[in-house]
Amino acid sequence: MPKRRKRDLLIKGFSKLLKEDKLKIVAELMDKQVESMELMKSFWHEDHSVQKIFDEFSENTLSNFYIPYGVAPNVFVNGVNHLVPLVIEESSVVAAASSSAKFWSEHGGFKAEVVDIIKIGQVHFTWAGDKKKLVSVFDNIKIAFREATKHITANMEKRGGGILDFELIDKTKDLENYYQIMVSFDTADSMGANFINSCLEEFASELKSFCSNEPSFVGKEKECMIIMSILSNYTPDCLVRTWVECDMDALDKLDPELTGEQFAAKFQMAVKIAEIDEYRATTHNKGIFNGIDAVAIATGNDFRAIEAAGHTYAARSGKYKSLSTVEIKDKRFKFILEVPIALGTVGGLTNLHPLAKNSLEMLGNPSAKELMMIAAAVGLANNFAAVRSLVTKGIQIGHMKMHLMNILNHFEATENEKAKAVEYFMGEKVSFANVSEFIKKIREK
Ligand code: MEV
Repeated sequence: MPKRRKRDLLIKGFSKLLKEDKLKIVAELMDKQVESMELMKSFWHEDHSVQKIFDEFSENTLSNFYIPYGVAPNVFVNGVNHLVPLVIEESSVVAAASSSAKFWSEHGGFKAEVVDIIKIGQVHFTWAGDKKKLVSVFDNIKIAFREATKHITANMEKRGGGILDFELIDKTKDLENYYQIMVSFDTADSMGANFINSCLEEFASELKSFCSNEPSFVGKEKECMIIMSILSNYTPDCLVRTWVECDMDALDKLDPELTGEQFAAKFQMAVKIAEIDEYRATTHNKGIFNGIDAVAIATGNDFRAIEAAGHTYAARSGKYKSLSTVEIKDKRFKFILEVPIALGTVGGLTNLHPLAKNSLEMLGNPSAKELMMIAAAVGLANNFAAVRSLVTKGIQIGHMKMHLMNILNHFEATENEKAKAVEYFMGEKVSFANVSEFIKKIREK
């Protein structure tokens, strides 16, 4: 059968097949069947028990996808020196974080504080009745909710967390009969997604039975329709603040053509542009998440959740803005980042993924709050490095230097060719065309 036609056929019961059989089915659809299958197998871990852990993280696992695991040394946060593990494919991020961390280690390091670690979940429901009645029984609903989730919260309470509060929110002006119960949680050192969602589903079923049994409710008031129960990834109160500061003279050497004062003014202008222009703000914040995501991935945390919260937070005023700000006062330069980062150091992948566990050990097994401060500091480090390059020499010199190896690998350069290229491009502009030309020339010789 021609490949196209085969591709169009529905595959039934795929998830139930053995991994080898899944691999065969997928490989049959590829142009280079044998090579493709061998390639995917070559990325399996040689220890079967380790590979099994990876296979079971997800569904239909065929292979593992490698991303470099690097480290940024000299990240001083509140006076403590950290070696921070970073998992990221972009060539210049680790170098940028490291150079920034080194610079700030000589100027007091990063200061950081956790504002709070509150997480949010919502039960969304519709209820057609007299709102005053619902409000009047809400305290009883709360008691019923706490009672119904005792079996889930007991452990969390032992770890210092639990349910914090409930709020009934009337959304009937926006959607007919629509209410939500907004619940705040403290999940201690865990990310807590499963804990929150389990509690919410219990609340939902409790709410249904409460409505049907509540003596003051009549007719339709006895029915409540649960639309959904789910945590919110928007965690504006799971917030961390980090900053660096120095006298402006300390910035004198950052660019040969700028005094420290001029550098600070240009840097501040660049950050202000990210406060007023969402095109620039998006890229500016992306530079912050280069660092934060890399820490999140290295420690087995959910970087999509962190990004989602960060971008919503950046738009909290109704306009999407830079997450970082600059203050210049009395000849002092202060660069500040405030960002929600819901991170965990227990549960989930944090202890299951062997390298995530290793990362936490490398960081001295931090609490969730400590990890929030470290991740934020690395985000600020990356942001500082990016804006510093942008307002001075531009990012391409450094970026392309780091990218040189990728281009050389594209041309399957030998070790000898790589060494020659590295030497040659010390003083030359790295571009795909220039590297291609260089390789061609040395191969002609
Ligand atoms: C590249 O990954 C990140 C930067 O674009 C961030 C920025 O422009 O601020 C360099």
